[in-house]
Amino acid sequence: MAKIKVLFVCLGNICRSPLAEGIFKQRIMERGLDAFFEVDSCGTAAYHIGETPDERSIANAKKNGVDYTHRGRQAKAHDFHRFDYILAMDDTNVKNLKAIEPKSHDARLKKMRDYDESEPGANVPDPYYGCEDGFQRVFDILDASVNNLIDHLAHEYKLH
Ligand code: 4NP
Repeated sequence: MAKIKVLFVCLGNICRSPLAEGIFKQRIMERGLDAFFEVDSCGTAAYHIGETPDERSIANAKKNGVDYTHRGRQAKAHDFHRFDYILAMDDTNVKNLKAIEPKSHDARLKKMRDYDESEPGANVPDPYYGCEDGFQRVFDILDASVNNLIDHLAHEYKLH
């Protein structure tokens, strides 16, 4: 079976989307599903290309048992051909992605919190300018959303 390709998207690709990617990778590994997936993240802006994720975000994730790294890259039209699922963190990310969306493609563009039962379809808040507890809140939102997304994909693709 071809791998299921999942892309997480935010603005800068240093806070929310690399964390979502890191949590997703950790959880599929714990569930023995990692062989089924290819996972990546990117930003719609070009500010942080080549950079590693925000240190505060990395430190907070470590406290929660998730160790990850990434190098920032910008979203491109080809991502719609390469990935099966594209998860945007907020409405601005959706708008920016739609501006580069090819006319025809098979990717499903969703908001990350479409998979969050507590606030379906809400934005994932940007912790970049916030305080430390903002990072834990974002971690909790992403963890809940990611777990539901994995449940959804495991059901859709009949993974065991
Ligand atoms: P992210 O957060 O989109 O979650 O990576 C941001 C990081 C940096 C900037 C904006 C958002 N920035 O403007 O530099």
